[in-house]
Amino acid sequence: MSVFRSLTAGAMLAVSTLAATAPALAADAYPSRPITLVVPFAAGGPTDVVARAVGLAMSKQLGQPIVVENKLGAGGTLAAGSVARAQPDGYTLFIHHNGMATAPALYRKLQFNPLTDFEYVGQVVDVPMTLLGRKDLPPKNLPELIPYIKANASKLTLAHAGLGAVSQLCGVIFQQAIGVQLQTVPYKGTAPAMTDLLGGQVDLLCDQTTQTTAYIKAGSVKLYGVTTLQRLKAMPETPTLDEQGLKGFQVVVWHGIYAPKGTPKPVLDRVNAALKVALKDATVRQRMADLGAEIVPESKQTPEGLRTWLKSETDRWGTVIRAAGEFAD
Ligand code: MLT
Repeated sequence: MSVFRSLTAGAMLAVSTLAATAPALAADAYPSRPITLVVPFAAGGPTDVVARAVGLAMSKQLGQPIVVENKLGAGGTLAAGSVARAQPDGYTLFIHHNGMATAPALYRKLQFNPLTDFEYVGQVVDVPMTLLGRKDLPPKNLPELIPYIKANASKLTLAHAGLGAVSQLCGVIFQQAIGVQLQTVPYKGTAPAMTDLLGGQVDLLCDQTTQTTAYIKAGSVKLYGVTTLQRLKAMPETPTLDEQGLKGFQVVVWHGIYAPKGTPKPVLDRVNAALKVALKDATVRQRMADLGAEIVPESKQTPEGLRTWLKSETDRWGTVIRAAGEFAD
């Protein structure tokens, strides 16, 4: 008789009871080692800035380091695919933005489904974008920039961080709004794109204030406007693109934290509690405010808040992108 068959009914019950309580025991001990927070774009860029600020505050709550791992490529979809396939044990977390909602319409052969392959921890911050030019670009403001672009379209380059990146999305909307098609240059994050803008290798970049604020303050780039409908508290003197004539121009970047599907609920609860405390942390709040970013309201800092928002954004962008016909394999 096999060992398995020789188990008595009592022993079987004990085994199944143990199995049922294993996730709860694991969650009690969680976290007992460092946690990896996967960032789908380059180190030093806007997503990375948010991940490191919030991750540090969360690690204080969780009592374990949160190690940021930058997994680059394909507009954030390589990282998302690898997280979807990671062990669902709470030791792999993922931060991403609007790209989670746009990827299903942008990529024909996506290796993951944002709506079924993840657990949701909560939303984090909303970040506006800025339209920038290299420092020595002649136009001083948007009304001067538009005719300049039209006259020099074949010579000017627009940097972005790949299909699925918000810099790419913002660039597409901008080109559509002014009726011009520019030569685009893809990078694996807007940190390297910014390096080339500063070096004058590319001419234009639409990027988040979490990266651009420092360069704007230093005067090392030309600023043509912000992508919100209202001016920002962090840069009140900067006009919006909307008020300068691009009516309705609005791109706001929202960030959420995810875990692989099947991560135990007690673990998710623990991570979510750490997120909520981190988003109340005075240092995090001040840093985000200085960078023009806005911590989302508490109702959105929840699994349900993120899930609902992701679903509505997926529906919204799916319609827009399919109509525009902008796809990759
Ligand atoms: C980054 O972190 O590099 C950006 O979020 C990329 C992007 O433009 O989406």
